[in-house]
Amino acid sequence: MHPADFYTGIVADLYGPLKAHSQDPEPYADFIHQVGMPALELGCGDGEPLIELRRRGLDVDGVDSSGDMLERLRRRADVQGIAVTVFQQRMEALDLPRRYRAVFLAGPTFTLLPDDATALAALRGIRAHLAEGGTALVPLFTPEPTPAEQLGRVRTASAPDGAELRVSVVDERRDETARTQTTLLRYERHLGSDSTVEERPWTMHWYSGEQFEELALRAGLVVTTVTDTDGKPTPADASGVLHFRLQVG
Ligand SMILES: C[S@@+](CC[C@H](N)C(=O)[O-])C[C@H]1O[C@@H](n2cnc3c(N)ncnc32)[C@H](O)[C@@H]1O
Repeated sequence: MHPADFYTGIVADLYGPLKAHSQDPEPYADFIHQVGMPALELGCGDGEPLIELRRRGLDVDGVDSSGDMLERLRRRADVQGIAVTVFQQRMEALDLPRRYRAVFLAGPTFTLLPDDATALAALRGIRAHLAEGGTALVPLFTPEPTPAEQLGRVRTASAPDGAELRVSVVDERRDETARTQTTLLRYERHLGSDSTVEERPWTMHWYSGEQFEELALRAGLVVTTVTDTDGKPTPADASGVLHFRLQVG
């Protein structure tokens, strides 16, 4: 399965019910207020924070590679009476009719791009979709290995139809040279005698601050600031989620 199709089928079904915490809209609302509109969220998934930003009247479009996630987003927006414009595309092959003052990812979704070549294509796409003077915001982090005692531990949740949903880590491979970690996840859905079980590899690929800045330069972008998630200036090699802002260089 292509990494961009990970959040489909049973994974999209389980994503909402098993999500540990919701995505705080404030850093992204602040970003849009600072740099202007229209705005574009890449990897908008099932609508957090895109739907909340639209509720606040912000002009934000969305892109996601998963039709299943976008279907959930449209359904949730419909129920709340909120109009959304979303496109099913891979961020490494962006081709949209508008240009944007603000392009952002909410959370470190950029690490789902499995290698530098794909990340470079995504950065080139971002550059091509920035309006003059526009700014991009890319959150990045370096994942920790899953602690050994958590292998096989099951997290459960209930689906709206009463089904029992389960997810567990079966195995994990980490490659420090390629900067990738592939976690084999087992997803399960049980309702009465009906059971679906599927194992899927989930790959993350990370960068040092310097490596990311170098890739950005090759895409014609310069990193203008690095902050923590509250907007406080931070060294590009600090731990945790860092917000890299980029402009056309
Ligand atoms: C962890 S989810 C985050 C969704 C949402 N921002 C949230 O917090 O609920 C990551 C999303 O990125 C999408 N995605 C993964 N790879 C992608 C790619 N190459 N291009 C576009 N979207 C991608 C997935 O389909 C998924 O919906």
